[in-house]
Amino acid sequence: MSEKRFDVGGRVIVITGAGQGIGREYALAFAEAGAIPVLAEINRANLDKVEEEVRARGGTPLAIETDVGTPESVQAMVARTLESHGRIDVLINNAAIFATIPRRKFDEIPFDEWNRVIHVNITGSYLCAAAVAPVMRTAGHGRIINISSGTVPQGVPGFLHYVSSKAAIVGMTRAMARELGDDNINVNAVLPGYTETEMEHASMDDGMHDFIQNKRILKRPETPDDLIGLVMFLASPGSAFITGQCIACCGGEVML
Ligand SMILES: NC(=O)c1ccc[n+]([C@@H]2O[C@H](COP(=O)([O-])OP(=O)(O)OC[C@H]3O[C@@H](n4cnc5c(N)ncnc54)[C@H](O)[C@@H]3O)[C@@H](O)[C@H]2O)c1
Repeated sequence: MSEKRFDVGGRVIVITGAGQGIGREYALAFAEAGAIPVLAEINRANLDKVEEEVRARGGTPLAIETDVGTPESVQAMVARTLESHGRIDVLINNAAIFATIPRRKFDEIPFDEWNRVIHVNITGSYLCAAAVAPVMRTAGHGRIINISSGTVPQGVPGFLHYVSSKAAIVGMTRAMARELGDDNINVNAVLPGYTETEMEHASMDDGMHDFIQNKRILKRPETPDDLIGLVMFLASPGSAFITGQCIACCGGEVML
């Protein structure tokens, strides 16, 4: 393998939930690395803002208002991407209901909130993977990177719908990897630790930051930048023989 081992230049990378937080940082980082980020985001105002930011850094994003929980919307996003670029090399299933989730006892979660979290976080990831798989199959290669969470191996209390949804992503990754291996499509999951973004997280209360940091081998806050190396590696030629894996990126807070 050549110096292209970790090169993602020219790759078309669909990033769902790219309008804020970690997804926004993936978009900026992939653009800086010469990839073409497709921003698939439900929040129009944030989508426009991130599109502008990527352009300001010399990137060539494709911004598509998308609801990952609606099959027609996902199909339209894939169709527009193909119209513009003719291929999809990587899907990052990053969109989720997360920052806005308040902590509650599991038996106090309102039923509609439970359903929304489960639907967007599980079904949304499934719909996006199901929409890009035929495209990747035809192309003879592809990468699907599912974003799970370090809350799963730890069984973090206070948002059972979220943790359950991210546990489903682990099972989905493993079974999907087996189904897509013969098509040369690699499927892996990333389990971030608690990551500080520009958002106030409704699930965090005072003292939680210190508590989390003290559980880590590397005792410092995690930032989106800490995740970029791993996600970019999984999107690059260098990770061609890695599939069906769940990789924690959390300063050693958990060991899988
Ligand atoms: N930040 C953390 O501490 C942390 C830790 C572990 C895992 N994660 C995971 O990383 C990913 C990003 O986290 P974040 O902190 O940036 O979350 P966030 O809540 O700040 O951002 C999520 C993004 O997804 C978008 N989104 C929500 N529903 C959507 C839909 N139906 N269609 C399209 N887009 C939709 C939101 O508008 C938002 O832009 C999530 O999957 C999250 O579960 C985050």
